[in-house]
Amino acid sequence: MLPDMGIKLDLRFATQVLCIKSMALITWDDSIKVGLWTIDTQHERWVGFINDLHEAMLAGKGKTVLRKTLAAMVDYTRTHFADEEKLMSTHGYSGYAEHKAIHDAFVAQVLDLQRRVQADEIGVSREVLNRLKNWLVNHIKVTDQDYVPFLKSKGVL
Ligand SMILES: [Fe+2]
Ligand SMILES: [Fe+2]
Repeated sequence: MLPDMGIKLDLRFATQVLCIKSMALITWDDSIKVGLWTIDTQHERWVGFINDLHEAMLAGKGKTVLRKTLAAMVDYTRTHFADEEKLMSTHGYSGYAEHKAIHDAFVAQVLDLQRRVQADEIGVSREVLNRLKNWLVNHIKVTDQDYVPFLKSKGVL
């Protein structure tokens, strides 16, 4: 009786681990789309980088992999912000300076995070990832939404 129970418990544990591992930190669905193809395509990729980092952490990947994955996420954050800023400035969006300042502040934060991870001051933890997730989702759903009607009126798709 006891050995059987042991096996059942192990299986349940294994199932839980598999479920956690396959669960994305951020689910890409319509609720996070802004409705501009150009931007949504980049946001989906950006979310993918955060999810990759989350998966690497859950899989218990070593420092080298985590640092490389974090660097890829930071790089893509800068690429996306630069493209978004170019789109706003090209079309003369009035909220450009304010939006850029928000991007700049976030870049400073992720660069500081990266520096601290590289210096072994902190690890890529659930708390760190949740902070990244909250910032990203809030930025897409609130701040980025502000320019959508304007860019649509300029014919951006
Ligand atoms: Fe964005
Ligand atoms: Fe933005």
